[in-house]
Amino acid sequence: MEQMIKEYAKRLKLSWIPANYHTIHAETNEEFLLKLFEREVQHRDERRINLLLKQATLPKIPNKPYDWREIQLAPGITKDYILEGEFTKNQENLIFYGGVGTGKTFLSTLIALNLMKKQGKRVKFYTAASIVNALLEANEKGDLGKFLNQIEKLDLLILDELGYIPLHKQGAELLFQVISMCYETKSIIVTTNLPFSQWNNVFGDPILTEAVIDRLIHHSHLIIFNGESHRYKDSISQR
Ligand SMILES: Nc1ncnc2c1ncn2[C@@H]1O[C@H](COP(=O)(O)OP(=O)(O)O)[C@@H](O)[C@H]1O
Ligand SMILES: [Mg+2]
Repeated sequence: MEQMIKEYAKRLKLSWIPANYHTIHAETNEEFLLKLFEREVQHRDERRINLLLKQATLPKIPNKPYDWREIQLAPGITKDYILEGEFTKNQENLIFYGGVGTGKTFLSTLIALNLMKKQGKRVKFYTAASIVNALLEANEKGDLGKFLNQIEKLDLLILDELGYIPLHKQGAELLFQVISMCYETKSIIVTTNLPFSQWNNVFGDPILTEAVIDRLIHHSHLIIFNGESHRYKDSISQR
């Protein structure tokens, strides 16, 4: 009998059961079945979340509470609306604007974690430079369609550090294609140290720049990160 249980469990992809079903304590068959199902559902949820986390390629963040004191929210929205990813329900975008070390990457990562762990949503984190590289590479290999299909499946796309370096011309055009594709169908978080008036230096072409800004800011919330650099503060307080 044990052997048969093992074989069936393997075929049904329930291979945790043979070694573990003894640990389920139940008074009735019904209760046993319920508890068994509960554990399997739990396992599936965990596997799905682990896969989402792996695919999202989030940066490492410190294990400490997020300090909201220097964060200036757009009027009419709340901390939870942002942190719990509520904005993704309406396909809204967030623009995080502020200097280096003010918590933009940290906050976008916290949002991504909440969306994946609590809602099972798909998120992908890129820096502007890394998505442009990936786009150029996919384009060269003839895999652009495949790459865009992956983006199409996301609930939230994070584009970190837009503005730190000017983008390659064709890369900028491909990035515009991604942003257009996401328009009104999914959410984007853009983090930047540059005011919109200087985005031209990143995209290199005024018409393209205007089209990008147009798509991004329609249905978006601007969040301003006012703090002086936490990296700087942390390094001072460590002395
Ligand atoms: N609001 C904040 N609350 C707590 N720590 C913060 C906050 N903002 C920044 N930090 C600290 O500073 C570091 C750098 O923040 P980061 O999000 O990478 O800045 P940015 O992306 O704006 O350059 C974080 O890893 C964290 O240790
Ligand atoms: Mg950052």
